Order: sequence, then structure tokens, then C-alpha cells
Amino acid sequence: MPVWLIVSSHGWRLLKEELGILNVEQLRDSTGGDWSTTTLFEDGDRGAKPASGSQRTRGMVICPCSMGTVAAIAHGTSRSLVERAADVTLKERRRLIVVPRETPLSVIHLRNLTILAEAGVVVVPAAPGFYHRPTRIEELIDFVVQRLIDQLDLPIDIAQRWQG
Ligand SMILES: Cc1cc2nc3c(=O)[nH]c(=O)nc-3n(C[C@H](O)[C@H](O)[C@H](O)COP(=O)(O)O)c2cc1C
Repeated sequence: MPVWLIVSSHGWRLLKEELGILNVEQLRDSTGGDWSTTTLFEDGDRGAKPASGSQRTRGMVICPCSMGTVAAIAHGTSRSLVERAADVTLKERRRLIVVPRETPLSVIHLRNLTILAEAGVVVVPAAPGFYHRPTRIEELIDFVVQRLIDQLDLPIDIAQRWQG
């Protein structure tokens, strides 16, 4: 399945600060190395394919989603390819899923997230469960990623599900 990837400039900063990933090659290696179905777009290129509703997609996931990007989507002030692609996803009535990353949340953050939810955006905070007794950070990450995969209706199982 083709995947379009957009990393914001601050996304690159986070990859560097939090994971020590400095460039596209290191990002590719850390995600398994096979990007034969992945296309990387520049966040500054608002003329790239994801900027147009004529390009059909299943939807879009913004993970993690800063409060600045939440605000820009909520108010329709897109200035980057991530924000424009989110705008397009909404206007085309496709699935938009955001994973907000901030704590604590101000009233402004909550209002903007409410605007998104009212517009049909699925807000999925990165809040993993613990009932599967995780012992590795990868299990916590997979828990959240499974929720995102499920929201896109993809037949992929990477995490344990609650069995009752
Ligand atoms: C190490 C680091 C961590 C950050 N974490 C967050 C965060 O969790 N949430 C957030 O809204 N901003 C965070 N910021 C601030 C972002 O850089 C800022 O919100 C930026 O506008 C995000 O841009 P983007 O949405 O285009 O990626 C962080 C910055 C740095 C350097």
C-alpha cells in the first residue's frame, strides 16, 4: 500500500533530539529499510501531491500533532504541506486522525481540539493501555499505532487486543 510521508521541520528536530535520527537514510533504516511504497514530501512544498483533493487517499494521520498544527487545522490557516493536506482531507470528507502531543492542555488547546472533533477529526491521544502488562517501550508504541491502524480500517494486527 502506498504511503505518503511528510515530516515537518520541527518533526526533524524531534527525530534528532528524541531518537538521534539525523537524516532520511537514518529514518529509513530505523523503520525497517524498505521504503519501496513510501514517498517522502517536503513540508514546505505546498504544491506537492498531498496538497490536492484530486489525489485520492484513504485518509491522513498526523502523529505526533503539535498544538500549533492543531490550531492551524482548526482555523483553516494552512501554511505547510502537513496543514494543507489536513485541510484537503477534511474538505474531501476523508478520515483525518490526529495524535495530539501536549500536557497539560490549555483551554485554547481544548477548544481547538473540540473544533477538530466537531469537524469529524478523530482525536487519538498517545495514551496506551497497560492491561497487556507491557515491559518494553515498543509495546506501548504498538498499542497506540494499532489504534491508528484500526481507525484507517487496515487489516493489520501488531498489538494484543483485550480478550475480556
Ligand atoms: C524537543 C522538543 C519537543 C517538543 N514537544 C512538543 C510537543 O510535545 N507538543 C507541541 O505542541 N510542541 C512541542 N514542541 C514545540 C514544537 O517544536 C512547536 O510546537 C512547533 O511549532 C511544531 O511544529 P509542527 O507542528 O510544524 O511540527 C517541542 C519542541 C522541541 C524542540
